[in-house]
Amino acid sequence: MGRSLRVLVGVSGGIAAFKTAELVRRLQEAGCEVRCSVTRAAAAFVTPLTLEVLSGAPVYQEEYLGANGSGQELHITTAAWADVLCLAPATANLLSRLALGLADDFLTTTALAFGGPVVFAPAMHSEMWTKEVLRGHVATLEGRGMRRIGPEVGRLASGERGAGRMAEPERITAEVLAASGSRGLEGRTVVVTAGPTREPIDDVRFLSNRSSGRMGFALAAAAAEGGARVVLVAGPVDLATPWRVERVDVTTALEMGEALERLASEADLVVMAAAVADYRLAKTFPGKVKRHQGPPDLDLVENPDLLVGLAEWAPDALRVGFAAESGEVEAEARRKLVAKGVHLLVANDVSRRDIGFDVDANEVTVFRPTGEPVFFERRPKLLLARDLMDLFVTEMERREQTTPAAARP
Ligand code: PMT
Repeated sequence: MGRSLRVLVGVSGGIAAFKTAELVRRLQEAGCEVRCSVTRAAAAFVTPLTLEVLSGAPVYQEEYLGANGSGQELHITTAAWADVLCLAPATANLLSRLALGLADDFLTTTALAFGGPVVFAPAMHSEMWTKEVLRGHVATLEGRGMRRIGPEVGRLASGERGAGRMAEPERITAEVLAASGSRGLEGRTVVVTAGPTREPIDDVRFLSNRSSGRMGFALAAAAAEGGARVVLVAGPVDLATPWRVERVDVTTALEMGEALERLASEADLVVMAAAVADYRLAKTFPGKVKRHQGPPDLDLVENPDLLVGLAEWAPDALRVGFAAESGEVEAEARRKLVAKGVHLLVANDVSRRDIGFDVDANEVTVFRPTGEPVFFERRPKLLLARDLMDLFVTEMERREQTTPAAARP
């Protein structure tokens, strides 16, 4: 990154807010640049002046703060400034507002505008923490990729013992640094493909599939969090570009191939999560085929296999394919691993409704030419993507240690 990690500490109103001063210090000792935002309730527990003196920057409070001198809105510029948003303590009220997307003060408007990694340290009485409604909101936030730290079991403000204590500042600091992504991806270029391709039939119809792009976008987000330069080659999907990701939009398999041919030579890692159409029309029809003309003759030809092409376009990169399987998942995945000449193949069972296409979660098994497959049980796609990135980095490092670049397959 070449500069200090910028952390926005968002403080909500609970007794644990007194620990925020220590958290700010710890983050600074770890080399972070820190700014703070306090909710109205938090200001009753920790004075903004304390945090201002410690952080050396104005503390953003309460309501919408309006524009700065250059006409830019402060919650937008603050969201753009921060590398990591750290919510500590995160009260039941703050977590519920964030889960619902409410934006009614400076902290929640900034959080909604923020696209990077978020860590949150819940703190409340255990009677509140264990309530179903709150657990639902927390699961929503975790499903969006936010990292929860704690709460820990211990003595609560009421004097009772239970789960609800905010995690210690030391642990929160470690999680902030981990979330900012020292995953061995700094200085690396990662190319990810995502989504379906569309193969036109005429000017209004096309052949395509159910890929939403979520798996590939999650992988791109995880790689960017990890410090990589990420280029995301995206088929037609309705998803926002993840934080710090360069996006190249394509429609057809041939366009995706052209983009990969141009970009892949720069890559250290290429991950093909896109569901590329295997066939296209030999010849598309001009205009719109009319019903009264009868069913058109769909003369299909094979699209090139882009994964196979990658061996030539990115000979030194770690090449990772995905396999969308139903039925004989393992046998088919092993066949594709060899046939497509990839280093790793991530297989998912797309006959299941709770994983794979067009849902938020996935469960996969990663196959490699030697060694046991690695199984990742069902989890939100962003959390899975982070775990997969860790595996890919380990594999890249193993190859670099054991094989000189010139001799790598
Ligand atoms: O997008 P989501 O809704 O989140 O769903 C995620 C997903 C199910 C699409 C994803 O997890 C997944 O499985 N992606 C691969 C889909 C696929 O095309 O699988 P396949 O088994 O048909 O192809 C195997 C591999 O070859 C894939 O890496 C694919 O990108 C690649 N391929 C396929 C055809 C082709 N012409 N060129 C290719 O490179």
